[in-house]
This record gives sequence, structure tokens and C-alpha cells, in this order.
Amino acid sequence: MLRKSLVILIACLLGLMSFNCTSNNSKDKAESKNNNEKKVLVSYFSWSGNTEKVAKHIAETIKGDIFKIEAVKKYPTDYKECTRVAREERRNKVRPDLTKKVSKFEQYDIIFIGYPIWWSDMPMPVYTFLESYNFKGKTVIPFITHGGSDESGTSDIIRDKLSGATVLKYLSIYDDYIDNANSDIDTWLKEIGIKK
Ligand SMILES: Cc1cc2nc3c(=O)[nH]c(=O)nc-3n(C[C@H](O)[C@H](O)[C@H](O)COP(=O)(O)O)c2cc1C
Repeated sequence: MLRKSLVILIACLLGLMSFNCTSNNSKDKAESKNNNEKKVLVSYFSWSGNTEKVAKHIAETIKGDIFKIEAVKKYPTDYKECTRVAREERRNKVRPDLTKKVSKFEQYDIIFIGYPIWWSDMPMPVYTFLESYNFKGKTVIPFITHGGSDESGTSDIIRDKLSGATVLKYLSIYDDYIDNANSDIDTWLKEIGIKK
């Protein structure tokens, strides 16, 4: 009798365990299925157009909304002058005012954030952007263009700043390579599970 009860108890426990496993698996599947239906925003800052090209390719590929981060005070069009202004802003930790806000930010589940490296950092308007919204529970995906400094640790800065968000693996693209980067972008989108 005792042995029979023990057998039934073990069977029940095994049953419960396998139920748990199945439900976890089906939850994973449900989540990845829902991934297709998640609302995506591709936000970016770009001064000379490289990051914009990448942003447009991502937005077209995954059918996301696109948002350009722009400072009210325009940056000089002269490269040397722009680097001087950018260096000053970085030194003084300036948070430039932005021209517009994302409408209904809360509707987005996945937010790409693109920017060029400026002085081994993000341009200051990107900091303003990051500090302007509640990213709790969002999936954030950085993409970066640069002239040789790679991402310069900026994805970890984003991870630290947006502690309530899940920050996925970034993509960084060397500026000379922008016009040939679409297949690398597509491969990365697949790797991070955004594109099928
Ligand atoms: C103000 C300024 C600072 C820059 N600083 C760096 C840097 O520190 N490291 C780097 O690799 N590239 C640097 N670059 C090059 C840009 O990151 C690179 O050309 C980028 O692709 C430009 O993107 P955009 O066309 O979207 O503005 C700098 C460019 C500018 C204008």
C-alpha cells in the first residue's frame, strides 16, 4: 500500500515537472511568435548621413517606425568646427534640447538607437534622448557607425543608464563600409532574433 502511494506520488511529481517544462517551452514559443507582432521604433542621430542610411535600412527591413534625434541648436556643417563643438559639449556634459518627442513612446516594445561615435562617446543629443523616456521593460538595440573607434564602450553606457531595459547585442559599422553594409545588417538582425 505504502509502496503504491509512493509510486503515485513520484508519478505525480514527474507529471508536474514535465508539465512545467512543456509550459515553459510553449511560453518561449509564444514569446518568439509575439516578437513578430511587437512594435518597433528605429531612432537615430546622424550628422553626415551614415547612421541615417543604416537606420533607414533597418526600418524598411523590419517595417518599424523611424525617428530622427535632432538638437534644436544645429551643429556646424564644417567638420572641424563640428568636432570642436562636440568636444566642448562632451567636456561639459551638455544635454542639448531636442526638436521633437516620440509620439506615444509607450506603444513601442523594441527600440533601436543609432548614433555615430563622437570623441569615443555618443553625441550628447543621444544622452538627452535616453534621459527623456521611460525604457523600463523595453528591448533596446544599439547600432553604431564610426571611423575606427568601434562602439567605444557606448553600449555598456546605455546598459548602465537604462537598467530596466534589456539591451541586445549592438552592431557597429566602420564609416567607409556603410554602402556595403546591408547584408551584415540583415545577418545581425537575424542573429538577435528580430528578422526571420
Ligand atoms: C564630431 C565628430 C567626432 C567624431 N569622433 C570620432 C571618434 O572619436 N572615433 C571614430 O571612430 N570616429 C569619429 N568620428 C567619425 C564618425 O563617427 C563617423 O564618420 C560616423 O560614421 C558618422 O556618422 P553620421 O554620418 O551618421 O554622422 C567623428 C565624427 C565627428 C563629426
